[in-house]
Amino acid sequence: MIIELESETDFRGWRIAAREACRRDISPDDMIWQTPDTVQDLFAAGSGTGTLKQNREDDRKIVVPRQFLTKAERVICLSDPQRFSRLYRLLWRYQTHRTLFETITDPDVCWLNEGEKAIRRDIHKMHAFVRFRMAGTRSDGREQFAAWFEPTYRIEMLAAPFFQKRFANMDWVIVTPNATISWNGATLQTSAGGRREDVPSDDEQEDHWRTYFAAIFNPARLKLGAMRSEMPKKYWQNMPETRLIPELVRRSQAQANAMVEHGPTLPSKTARALSARTTDVAQPAVQISSLNDLKAACSSCTDCDLSACASQSVFGEGPDTARLMIVGEQPGDREDIAGRPFVGPAGDLLNACLSEAGLDRKDIYVTNAVKHFRFTPRGKRRLHKSPSVGHIDACRWWLVQERRFVQPEIIVTLGATALRSVLEKPVELQTYRNQLIELEDGTQLIASVHPAYLLRLAQFEGAHQEKAQFIRDLVTAKTLLESDHAAMS
Ligand code: URA
Repeated sequence: MIIELESETDFRGWRIAAREACRRDISPDDMIWQTPDTVQDLFAAGSGTGTLKQNREDDRKIVVPRQFLTKAERVICLSDPQRFSRLYRLLWRYQTHRTLFETITDPDVCWLNEGEKAIRRDIHKMHAFVRFRMAGTRSDGREQFAAWFEPTYRIEMLAAPFFQKRFANMDWVIVTPNATISWNGATLQTSAGGRREDVPSDDEQEDHWRTYFAAIFNPARLKLGAMRSEMPKKYWQNMPETRLIPELVRRSQAQANAMVEHGPTLPSKTARALSARTTDVAQPAVQISSLNDLKAACSSCTDCDLSACASQSVFGEGPDTARLMIVGEQPGDREDIAGRPFVGPAGDLLNACLSEAGLDRKDIYVTNAVKHFRFTPRGKRRLHKSPSVGHIDACRWWLVQERRFVQPEIIVTLGATALRSVLEKPVELQTYRNQLIELEDGTQLIASVHPAYLLRLAQFEGAHQEKAQFIRDLVTAKTLLESDHAAMS
């Protein structure tokens, strides 16, 4: 069967054809995927071609984890000519091999994960290294900007939403060899690729860039190796600041010596007051390549003042393949002693509600936004005290890394602290209740209340309804996990 896709990144076309081929149980070896760039005359071989229309009488469900689809949509942007068939093979194999994606040594799974990583890296580079130049002014006075960029893969449309959000108030166009994306304040459009000459190469903003770059350049922190790997040579041509680098590097040693000789200058009073309120984000120096490494690194975290009083850090627990992650606020008294999350009264209530919702805690990764217990001593007791914004920000790095290793499909946040940590902004919990929120990486978020709140509410009117709603939130997560397996159909 030959499938003709509309473009090199025709994910929709691939998805429809793959679903139908899978339904008909066509072996990956019998499928040929073509794009306008790769069309060949294969009719001579007697193969059939066309689109695979859905056979409505055959209601065999093709199931696949949502994360596979998210990854597939990205991996399709690779230049690997085998990408469509490899993705189809994964889909086809998954129908009879449900643990396929957990086998990270499987060559197809490995290819998928590595490919997705490469795409993410490429998107990141595009976000970081696109430099706009002034291209003109519209008749209504609105300024227009243009940029030339050469991504490694066809990631233009994956990278575009970032620019749309960040530069919503200006007209811009990004030209690459494969595509031109443009934004006029209302719609995002894509058309054929262009050439470097289509975009102005210099403008009066360049000097601002260079002044800014020279001002933030720290000669005492010069690390050429890191600079080269972060900013590969192929991007240099488009970036005004790169012209400055040789001179800055040449002068750096002398400047660093002068800084040492001069001695430290004291920060201003305002800067001191500000830094007393904030804390740096955790950055462990050790190599972290698994959730266990992360847990070990977290156990010696002293990035905020909480580590000084708590007995130990309380890291998340649960399988690193969990599809559901629950994020609480911070460990309580019992958790601080046990070194495990949700083992006290709030944990008992959480466990009971999970069971009522038909979920098994064993399958869930349970963690907290803040990993150390914050409390106020009162006699022999230690009374819970909510973490500050500084604590939440300082601890976010750990949660982000937990998400990176576990890659949950769904996150349920318990209370405002957890929600704030995940959304990385101040939140009003009520605004986010009873809805599904899609995070930037495709993870679904359900914002729920904290079981400790339900415990505090227990004697009051309305407690019953609040608890029922909490259980409904958990049921929503369960239903999503189940329905997710019908995502292809
Ligand atoms: N409350 C939380 O938010 N987390 C725990 O681990 C225990 C209580």
